Amino acid sequence: MKFSRLRFDLRVALLYMVFGGLWILFSDRIMSDLAADKSTLTTLQTYKGWAFVLASGLMIYLLLRRDIVERKKIDLRLSLALSATRTGVWEWDTKTNAVFWSPECYDIVGMDRSTEKTLGSFLQLIHPDDVGRVKAAFELSLSTRKLFAEDFRIVRPGGDVLWLHNVGKAEYDENGRPLRLTGTMQDITKRKHAEQELQRSEEAIRVSRERLRALSGHLQQVREEERTAIAREVHDELGQQLTALKMDLALLQKRLRSNTDAIEKLKPILAHVDHAIQTVRRIATALRPSILDDFGLIAALEWQANEFQRRTGITCAFESDVEQAALDNAGSTALFRIFQESLTNVVRHSEATHVLSRLHQSEHDVTLEIIDNGKGMGTHVGVGGLGILGMRERAELLGGALDIQEPTGGGVTVMVKIPQHAKGRS
Ligand SMILES: Nc1ncnc2c1ncn2[C@@H]1O[C@H](COP(=O)(O)OP(=O)(O)O)[C@@H](O)[C@H]1O
Ligand SMILES: [Mg+2]
Repeated sequence: MKFSRLRFDLRVALLYMVFGGLWILFSDRIMSDLAADKSTLTTLQTYKGWAFVLASGLMIYLLLRRDIVERKKIDLRLSLALSATRTGVWEWDTKTNAVFWSPECYDIVGMDRSTEKTLGSFLQLIHPDDVGRVKAAFELSLSTRKLFAEDFRIVRPGGDVLWLHNVGKAEYDENGRPLRLTGTMQDITKRKHAEQELQRSEEAIRVSRERLRALSGHLQQVREEERTAIAREVHDELGQQLTALKMDLALLQKRLRSNTDAIEKLKPILAHVDHAIQTVRRIATALRPSILDDFGLIAALEWQANEFQRRTGITCAFESDVEQAALDNAGSTALFRIFQESLTNVVRHSEATHVLSRLHQSEHDVTLEIIDNGKGMGTHVGVGGLGILGMRERAELLGGALDIQEPTGGGVTVMVKIPQHAKGRS
């Protein structure tokens, strides 16, 4: 090993031994050469002794000073770190029961430095709700010889409650009995309060999000019920009245056989009534297609696909591996509305020429895929607007999920999954 690699204290000791050895070997010889007589030799020997004592003393002084300066620097850094992190160091001697606390401990705990401290007096400061847990953790760490690390509250003499983070480690004798425990206590009250605040606000956000979702679900449901009621009213009442009107007009037309002028006048009126009947049907269907209630989801999706193709010229195929989907009214309505919204997006944004929609029923869920061959969503994928948000909400409200992907072949695939027995449906 190289000399320069040795520890500083070893290097000093080695040098001292070498020089000391040389001194012992050669100094007497030099002295007797220099001294002319015995009394001069004695004087020189005294000087030599003095020189040795002085040199050793100076060396010891320099070494100690160096050590003290170093230690002071380390102490300063340590105490800065401790006070900046509001951390104190403690030690407990299990034999003598003596407790050492660094000044930070007194500041944290809020006790006078002259207060007599024992482990018992510290334990008394621990919050009554935490003391059992702390003792148990302490004993566990002693028996398992693992690090003791616990967060707990203390009540300061003034009544303030502080959160401490305590870490400790024990040293053991050869029989495995703990000799000494050394550890740190850190005041983490601010952090704990911030954490609690964060937890509270997260909880508040969660609750308000749940309320919003429930509200949105309720509004959807109300809207759907209203649409159904209006569609029925328009279709049944208005439709029937118009049909009755049409029949009356037809009867009138028959009775007026001889009056060709009047018959001619009736013709456009009949045409208007016919048109009105068609409009009423269209409005009712747009509000809520009766096929959904009368023939179920599969028939409604098939009808919607055909309608879409007829209106837009984009071919729209629909496949299903079941004849009736195992979904209740809420589930069927959600899937149907999501299908409509997706098709609206296709015609509005995709520039697609073909749409394939597939319904698949597994043991627990019903899945609908809407695949277009358009230009894809680009940067919108994963984000979406209010339309996509609404679709996702509808699905999630029933315990389902909506996923939008851009397959490598291009276009957009919307996949929505609704559980067959969704919780919390009304
Ligand atoms: N099938 C699709 N093909 C291409 N882009 C789409 C498709 N569906 C949605 N997008 C894009 O995603 C955006 C968000 O859609 P959406 O949430 O329904 O809002 P909106 O239709 O009101 O714009 C659309 O503006 C569009 O850019
Ligand atoms: Mg849209």
